[in-house]
Amino acid sequence: MLRFFPQKNKYIQEKSELRFNSDGPIPQHIAIIMDGNGRWAQNRRLPRVAGHKEGMETVKKVTKQASRLGVKVLTLYAFSTENWKRPKDEVSFLMQLPVDFFDTFVPELIKENVKVHVIGYEDLLPEHTQDAVKRAIEQTKDNTGMVLNFALNYGSRAEIVTAVKAIATEVRNEEKSIEEIDDTLIAEHLMTGFLPTELRDPELVIRTSGEERISNFLLWQLAYSELYFTKALWPDFDGAHLEEAIASFQNRDRRFGGVKNKEKEGDQS
Ligand code: FPP
Repeated sequence: MLRFFPQKNKYIQEKSELRFNSDGPIPQHIAIIMDGNGRWAQNRRLPRVAGHKEGMETVKKVTKQASRLGVKVLTLYAFSTENWKRPKDEVSFLMQLPVDFFDTFVPELIKENVKVHVIGYEDLLPEHTQDAVKRAIEQTKDNTGMVLNFALNYGSRAEIVTAVKAIATEVRNEEKSIEEIDDTLIAEHLMTGFLPTELRDPELVIRTSGEERISNFLLWQLAYSELYFTKALWPDFDGAHLEEAIASFQNRDRRFGGVKNKEKEGDQS
């Protein structure tokens, strides 16, 4: 955990009370809201985009670590449908980042057996961004390890609207009846529908930078996710932070609306 020490005017990493257990359960699907790039840069009197550039390096490190830990899906919120409101220069920089990222990192992704996927309204991205994304998906399509799933021009409410419209169209065309609309059908129509059923919903969601909001990210899929908030700014997020987040996950009691296993057996303690 990062704690602020006023005498030293800085955050210092404190040893977590929760211990990461590499033999314990590793969340199969981790989703991350990578926040704090701008503040990281401002703290160093650098332009905001310097924070995004450093954030890209963090993406590389975290991707490798997650893959080696055995995570099956890593979903990263890289650009939201609301991020177009940012200054034009910053948006242009953010649209160039996937190009730089994939150009430099695809060989390592191939070595790590990581497969790239994108969720979001890709067709509204500039052409050079779309091309880089398509290239990376093509180059990694035969990989069988972790899915590195970028949310790019993604917004969860828009995703739900799109899914509802698609289902309504199927009902109108008599391909589906209203009675067939259930959780599974809706999940299949969401952008995470390409994943196997058991991997669609993140088990653990991490948000960096101390903000404790979901910000229109995977609203349906997060119904039973464990949420973890850390004060670390995204460019400072490292292997120890990831282990700390997983340690927290390993110490949660996940009941999915039911009761603890012990209580089921009649032990009310
Ligand atoms: C939020 O920080 C971050 C973003 C909107 C961009 C996230 C992008 C990256 C981490 C780069 C990696 C992307 C790819 C595709 C490799 P913020 O700018 O809102 O930070 P602030 O809240 O401190 O201003």
